[in-house]
Amino acid sequence: MQAKPGWWQRAALYQIYARSWRDSNGDGIGDLLGIVEGLDYLSWLGVDGIWLSPTMPSPNTDWGYDVSDYLGVHPDLGTLADMDRLIEEAARRDIAVLLDLVPNHTSSSHPWFLDAIRAKQADHRGYYVWAPPKPGGAPPNNWTDATGAPAWTLGPGGDEYYLHNFLPTQPDLNWWDPRVHTEFEKVLRFWLDRGVGGFRIDVAHGLYKDAALRDDPPAMPGDHPAALRDGHRTVYSSHRPEVHTVYQRWRQITDNYEPARVLLGETWEFDPRRLAEYYGRERPELHLCFNFAFVFSEMRARSLAAAVEATLAALPLGSTPTWTASNHDLGRLATRWCHGDQRAARTALVLLASLPGVLVLYYGDELGLGDVEIPPDLQLDEMTRGRPGGSRDRCRTPMPWQPGENYGFCAPGTRPWLPMGEQASTNVHSERADHGSVLHLCRQLLALRRCGRLAAAGPVERVLLDDQVWAFRAGETITLANFSPTTTTRELALGGPLRTLASTRPGQTGEKVGPVFKLGPWEALVLTP
Ligand code: GLC
Repeated sequence: MQAKPGWWQRAALYQIYARSWRDSNGDGIGDLLGIVEGLDYLSWLGVDGIWLSPTMPSPNTDWGYDVSDYLGVHPDLGTLADMDRLIEEAARRDIAVLLDLVPNHTSSSHPWFLDAIRAKQADHRGYYVWAPPKPGGAPPNNWTDATGAPAWTLGPGGDEYYLHNFLPTQPDLNWWDPRVHTEFEKVLRFWLDRGVGGFRIDVAHGLYKDAALRDDPPAMPGDHPAALRDGHRTVYSSHRPEVHTVYQRWRQITDNYEPARVLLGETWEFDPRRLAEYYGRERPELHLCFNFAFVFSEMRARSLAAAVEATLAALPLGSTPTWTASNHDLGRLATRWCHGDQRAARTALVLLASLPGVLVLYYGDELGLGDVEIPPDLQLDEMTRGRPGGSRDRCRTPMPWQPGENYGFCAPGTRPWLPMGEQASTNVHSERADHGSVLHLCRQLLALRRCGRLAAAGPVERVLLDDQVWAFRAGETITLANFSPTTTTRELALGGPLRTLASTRPGQTGEKVGPVFKLGPWEALVLTP
């Protein structure tokens, strides 16, 4: 746990896909004790908190996002005692442990659902969303699930459909039933009492559905493509205003804990004004919200500047933005933003680290690790297997720790649960030994954030923006970046001499620079008076 008050307002969080980070027991699957083994590395790197992808028991049809027991630990990952140990060892290093909480749906193997499908009168029937077929037997409305199929599956008996916004093995919970609220408040307290630093809330925008189950309307010109499902706006199947009452309540619960805990929402909103609502209008809600308009920006000066400026203009005063470019669904930043160009990956890290607020890295970002193409016959993710965007397995491959067989993720001779690809020198050991590596740049940036020189709360002021270069002032520093593979020169009237605080080019720190800047391909600088 983190003892410092307000620690989360400038935190560097690090997402760990628990199955893929470090295997301590030789089964080819990462686990909680493996994470304990890696804590010294995280402490060296300078992260303030880790968010663990789902750790609870699950049949793994969606790799843990189909929870069958909210109060346990998945046997592949360890035991409750291992979790306690991880929380304790992390706290000794001032690292908070955030768990992934999945309140939108359970697994179809969860005892609540097993009871719900027994009979219409079953105790837990009302925990889920049921509706009769239309005349002729069709599903109750036009909602589709994450695979594009109807979001409704007939329950046993065949006279009522249940709703699933994701796979049929992930029935949606019915948040109109007050008992569901009580259950999740128990879950929150169970883990908060054990000392977790908070939660990443899965599908945070989705909990409530339209009470009348109205059809989702067709897309409108200008809608963000990632906001749509099967050409429809999901305004009735999710994004309902009632969800805010849940977070007002959860915020009250978490704020009663000392030291401070944090709620971080997977808020799939593309309009910054709607995103702002999750921070709370009249009453506080989530401490932090993922900003998908930014995540889906392109790694181009104008695209990123527009997303940052729109976000900061919309957020309520005093709220903390979050900046990330990668996760277990969308891919690693070195691939999705930077197309494998390590120079661009450095620039992305400089940018992410110098914006005010919270930075969320996905494991491997600190190494410049890219996605690994997984051949179709080895793909394990049911939701995306064979889909046009590619399988999510590509960004869930194990962490490379050192050169050699299995890259130190698991013992030689063991088969990692997903293939690791060819990593050349992209691994922790090799990059630690090389002071010019992406890893050392990342560590330096996190150290600058920790001592308050980077990422101070406050506005981001545009100093220069054109097709190739973006320069902005945040707090005392100016970040200047060339978002292109060609060298370019700009003059910045910055008033007074400046020094380089950080640079994508190794060994450039401390130099007196300006007012004319010759920027190499994808070069970024952080400047200070
Ligand atoms: C979130 C998770 C994703 C999961 C889905 C359903 O978007 O990030 O991995 O498949 O929710 O739980």
